[in-house]
Amino acid sequence: MDLYDKDVVSIRDFTRDEIESILDLSQEMVPYALGEKTDRKLDGRILGNLFFEPSTRTKLSFESAAYRLGCDVIDVSEMSMTSISKGETLADTIKMVDAYCDLIVLRHPYEGAARLAAKFSENPVINAGDGAGSHPTQTLLDLFTMREAKGTLEGLNIVLVGDLKYGRTVHSLADALTMFGAKLTLVAPDSLQMPDDIVSHLESNGCHPRKTSVIDDVIDQADVLYVTRIQRERFPDPAEYNKVAGTYRIDNAMLREAKSDMIVMHPLPRVGEIAPEVDGTRHARYFKQAFNGVPVRMALLCAILGGGRS
Ligand code: CP
Repeated sequence: MDLYDKDVVSIRDFTRDEIESILDLSQEMVPYALGEKTDRKLDGRILGNLFFEPSTRTKLSFESAAYRLGCDVIDVSEMSMTSISKGETLADTIKMVDAYCDLIVLRHPYEGAARLAAKFSENPVINAGDGAGSHPTQTLLDLFTMREAKGTLEGLNIVLVGDLKYGRTVHSLADALTMFGAKLTLVAPDSLQMPDDIVSHLESNGCHPRKTSVIDDVIDQADVLYVTRIQRERFPDPAEYNKVAGTYRIDNAMLREAKSDMIVMHPLPRVGEIAPEVDGTRHARYFKQAFNGVPVRMALLCAILGGGRS
C-alpha cells in the first residue's frame, strides 16, 4: 500500500488491495486507539480539521486518532467563524490552511468540495463527507466493522436501509462492497432509492442490487443490516421530508426474523430508526462501529503522513 502524501476523496480512488492493507493496519492500531499502547510516530505533525457541517464522530475520532499518534490538531467547526463569512472562497481558505498544517480533513455541505480542496492544497486532503456525495473514511470503518464481525468481506449479503438518495455513507459503501462481491439489497421508499448513476456504476462492476421498500421481505437473508437516517437537512422541501420521516424503525420484534449472527450497523446519528431496545441485543454493532473510526483513522493518518518511515 502506498498512500503516502495521497488524497482520500472517494472510495473509488482505492483498489481492493489498498483497502485490505488499510484494514490490516487498522487492526494493528486497535491497542493504540484504546490507549493500551502508546506510539507518537506523528510527533511534530499538524492536522487541519475543517468541519463546515455538524459532526460528532468523524471530527472527534480524527482528533482522537491524531492525539493518540502525537499529532497536533488545529480546527474549525463553523463556517461563520472563518473568513468565508466575509466572502473568502473555499479555494483561498484551503490555500491558507494548507500553509498551516500537513494534512487537511474537510467536511463540507457541497458535493465536490473535497475534490476542489484537493486541487488547491499542496498537502493531502481527506474527504470527511461532502454533501450528499461520499464519505470514504466512514466506508473504511464500516468495512473494518463487517470484517471484524464476519471474518471476511467476501460475498456478504448486505441490506442497505433508509435514505439511499441523500445518504453519502451508503454511496461510498455500496461502491466498496461491490469490490468484494457483496450481494446488495437496497431498501428505501421509491423517492429515496439509490441514485441511478451509482446503481449503473455498481452494475458495470458486476453487482446487480435488488430494490424493495419492505424490510420484512429481506431481513431473514441479511448478514448485515445497514440502517441510515433520513437526511432532513438535504431535502429542498420540508413537506417532502415529512412524507418519508419515520418510514423505517428496527425493533426487537422485527429482529426475530433475522439470522442469529446478523449484525445491525448505522453510521449514526440515529433519530428513531433503531429502537433503543436493540442496543442490548447481540445484533447491535453501531457503537462498536463508531469506536472503530479511531483505529481506522489512525491507520490512514500513518499511511498518508508516513508515520514509521522517519
Ligand atoms: N457517521 C458520521 O459521519 O457521524 P458524524 O456526522 O457525527 O461525524
